[in-house]
Amino acid sequence: NVSIQSIRQGEAKGLGHAILCAKRLIGKEPFAVILPDMLISKDNGNAGDSLKEMRLNFEKRETSSVLLGKAKKADISKYGIAQIKKNSKLPGLGLIKKMIEKPSIKKAPSNLYAVGRYIFNNDFFKYLSKVKPDKSNEIQLTDAIDNYIKDNNKVNAFSLDGDIFDCGDNAEYILANLEFAMKDPVIKTKIKKYLKTKRF
Ligand code: G1P
Repeated sequence: NVSIQSIRQGEAKGLGHAILCAKRLIGKEPFAVILPDMLISKDNGNAGDSLKEMRLNFEKRETSSVLLGKAKKADISKYGIAQIKKNSKLPGLGLIKKMIEKPSIKKAPSNLYAVGRYIFNNDFFKYLSKVKPDKSNEIQLTDAIDNYIKDNNKVNAFSLDGDIFDCGDNAEYILANLEFAMKDPVIKTKIKKYLKTKRF
């Protein structure tokens, strides 16, 4: 019983703007944001359940949340980076203190990056609609989250437990295909044979 509706973001005005385009469909409901180019594989953990964990947390506390992974130093400037305040009484890592979009390594407050899974209270739209475009004329989701936190709204930080592929990167896109293709015994045999004959 899932109904799917799609909305085209006519102009490339950033992730925050894309979400704002869906506002009239979401109405007054809380909502999740899933960036499908960040593909999570369940193999090494329960990453497939992270969003469920975030949803259950929302149902209990009505707190927005962001899923975070650990970025390699070289990748920090590719993502939204979070500073967290550890709290063992909360599920996940604790609360997010601050978020900054694509900082330089020098300016990054940690190596924890937003992997593209979020849950928001509906009042988050107020903050999203007030965000000013950045230097590249994009409305950043990260800036809205940072303003939301500055206004004393809580955002829980959850930690990714699994493998993730950033399909915006050519090599990772191929690896993501391999990861899932190898789960099919027929395709797996074909790929193995191909690799053998090609002697890579
Ligand atoms: C977007 C977000 C960024 C997040 C990333 C995950 O960036 O703005 O905060 O870490 O997705 O993929 P984009 O990949 O659109 O540049």
